[in-house]
Amino acid sequence: MSTEIASIKITKVEASRIGEVDFDNIPFGKVFSDHMFTMDYSDGEWKNLEITPFKDLTFSPAISSLHYGQSIFEGMKAYRRGENIYTFRAKDNFDRLNKSAERMCMPSIPNKLVMDGLRELLKVDKDWIPDNESNSLYLRPFMFATDEYVGIRPSEKYKFIIFCCPVGSYYTEPLKVKIETHYTRAANGGVGEAKAAGNYASSLYPAKLANEQGYHQLLWTDSKEHKYIEESGTMNVMFVIDNVLITPPLTGTILPGITRKSVLEIAKDWGYKTEERQITVDEVITAAKNNTLQEAFGAGTAATIAQIEVIGHEGTNYDLPAVKDRELSNKLLTFLNRIKRGLEDDKWGWIEKI
Ligand code: COI
Repeated sequence: MSTEIASIKITKVEASRIGEVDFDNIPFGKVFSDHMFTMDYSDGEWKNLEITPFKDLTFSPAISSLHYGQSIFEGMKAYRRGENIYTFRAKDNFDRLNKSAERMCMPSIPNKLVMDGLRELLKVDKDWIPDNESNSLYLRPFMFATDEYVGIRPSEKYKFIIFCCPVGSYYTEPLKVKIETHYTRAANGGVGEAKAAGNYASSLYPAKLANEQGYHQLLWTDSKEHKYIEESGTMNVMFVIDNVLITPPLTGTILPGITRKSVLEIAKDWGYKTEERQITVDEVITAAKNNTLQEAFGAGTAATIAQIEVIGHEGTNYDLPAVKDRELSNKLLTFLNRIKRGLEDDKWGWIEKI
């Protein structure tokens, strides 16, 4: 394999917008760094690798992603400590992107191309990476179909982009979640395990109904019986019951989260008992009622560890133990924030110094 860096044309901004940003007060996903990485797919290959100023794009109204949703994305982050920049398990994100691509009938991307693009982008926009424990640079790689064709078939042309947003916390307070027993996020054989744009679009209406009832998010259940917990809106979900960390297994309907698998590996390493198994709504509600549900939290890239303080089910709200008393999830959050900034022994080889 060649170690040569892919050839990337770099055009920098004339004047950076960084001075306009209040880094102590960053809303999630609304502030964009100066540059982005783009490339195009046509005639069976990726080409036109470029870093350009972050800017609007022009497309035909007929591009197929707009009509039929051939569009996938990833969420990852870059971290900074002084002059050191780090990514966390970036290869795993790009492997997942390629799995999503396969399911959505889109071309795969050679790992080296995206990694080279990402590294160069981070070097160019280094100053946009916040240098503190709770903030980071959120990276949004995504690919969408660009054929100008209204018939249904896999597109022959695609665009891939990575842009960046300096971010703080995705959730600013512990969550109230509602167990959803009518609508479904994903069914067996569907696209639940792909990070497909449409999965998020279809979650909006049920989530809006839950918001109107005072909940931040949903806890999705299986499509057949609404009996088993699956995942939460933007994250995988985890419970500590009787000192065991339990999370639903990856059976095709759940997004295989990078934070999810990191949490499982860290908890095991710390000597906690972990179980990836089906967990019923009944089990969670019974544990909440008899005080054996010690912790409940979401795990995701944007959210990192998002504490759940209330679970709503069939009109009743169950209050969970105070967040400050939660041993494992608080410890996990601190450890994850530290390892991502090179402050813990990375015996797994998860971080890359750029
Ligand atoms: C992430 O955690 O990166 C996600 O993809 C969630 C996103 C929809 C905000």
